[in-house]
Amino acid sequence: MDKIIISGRKKLHGKVSISGAKNAALAILPAAALSDGVCRIENVPNISDITLMCKLLENIGVNVKMLNKSTIEIDPGNMRCEVASYEIMRNIRASCYLLGALLGKFNESKVYLPGGCDFGIRPIDQHLKGFKALGADYSLDAGMVQVRCDKLTGSNVYLDVVSVGATVNILLAAVKAEGLTVIENAAREPHIVDLANFLNCMGADIVGAGTDIIKIRGVKTLSGTNYSIIPDQIEAGTYLTIAAATAGDITIENITPKHLESITAKLKEIGVEIYEYGDSIRAKGNEDLKKCNVKTMPHPGFPTDMQPQITSLLSRAVGTSIVNEAVWDNRFRYIEELRRMGANISVDGRLAVIEGVKDLIGAPVKATDLRAGAALVIAGLSAKGKTIIEDIKHIERGYENMVEKLQSIGAEISKIRETDTQEEVG
Ligand code: EPZ
Repeated sequence: MDKIIISGRKKLHGKVSISGAKNAALAILPAAALSDGVCRIENVPNISDITLMCKLLENIGVNVKMLNKSTIEIDPGNMRCEVASYEIMRNIRASCYLLGALLGKFNESKVYLPGGCDFGIRPIDQHLKGFKALGADYSLDAGMVQVRCDKLTGSNVYLDVVSVGATVNILLAAVKAEGLTVIENAAREPHIVDLANFLNCMGADIVGAGTDIIKIRGVKTLSGTNYSIIPDQIEAGTYLTIAAATAGDITIENITPKHLESITAKLKEIGVEIYEYGDSIRAKGNEDLKKCNVKTMPHPGFPTDMQPQITSLLSRAVGTSIVNEAVWDNRFRYIEELRRMGANISVDGRLAVIEGVKDLIGAPVKATDLRAGAALVIAGLSAKGKTIIEDIKHIERGYENMVEKLQSIGAEISKIRETDTQEEVG
């Protein structure tokens, strides 16, 4: 198992280029399988979740070709309506998008219940509510869900809870349904807008993505197209937080500042200087981090996928900060690891109460999920001494070349392979 070693307290300076958005790519790749032609998708992040999604699509006959490290060609010509590999499906949440893609393509689908980051129950009742509204029946048995119908017919769906996954899956099932589908209380994330834009490039008829009401008029065919994925606002927010945590001066490039508004607003509240340009943002940190309160919300609120990172930053802010994780049941498992580094944080249900400490001290810690791993990297970069992070496979699910990007802005960080001799790997 690879580990990351960090010697902290270095002020990081320089430029970081942001990769394509993981959660947009994980929706757009299965959406490309709905096409009757070949799609070329550019700016795809080179991360393990994408590798798994490509394997999943190949598993059901889709021809996936890596044209270069960030461009993928999807040819669904030989796609079959069958169950993909359990081993792959259990590892990524986005595998549940095969439900909507197969249903939209073949009027039936049968998949294993999805896996992904473990922070509480991750139901799919809203996905199934949407499929049912479109005329499909479903059954759950032996860890699998089967959905089928004679014909998909447009309908109204009011989501009981704002769900990114359910919004994605209903879009995938509705684009070729007969008539009009209206999704109310829809997710508004940038990756939902990116998916809708991609589907429209293929010939779909979707309006309202980015608002809480999305209207989809079914079309008969979807043709191949070329498309470039939006930048990853969570990767971008993570590097801005690193600038704040190391009192450094980092410019992130190839981004859409509007996608990060709630993140930059919070960093300004904490005392970070933020300078916005057309497709880049500069963050200048300082030693005096100000306490503040955070509540995670669906977009355009503060994103839950930035909660561990901002909590790690606030662990060194003067005073008491309160973080309310209002989206997930149990997304504070990483705090136990921050405590090993001297953080003074107590957790009560969905609330974390942070008493800022002057310094964190490097220690051996373990990444429990993707963004928890990012939080530990942030803590290690700002801590005194050496931090060793285990289980970094979680980090590599969503951050392309994180060690190399951090080395390029002055971090003393490296990756070692867990063998008899601790060989350096990057
Ligand atoms: C997506 O997960 C993201 N994953 C998550 O990012 C992100 O945390 C989440 O959206 C919220 O933004 C991908 O895009 C692959 P939800 P998803 O459905 O779709 C409840 C990362 O770090 N809910 O929006 O699974 C659910 O329990 C990952 O990149 C239902 O009750 O999230 C949760 O409380 C981690 N019933 C809330 O809605 C349902 O049918 C939001 O979940 C579906 C969801």
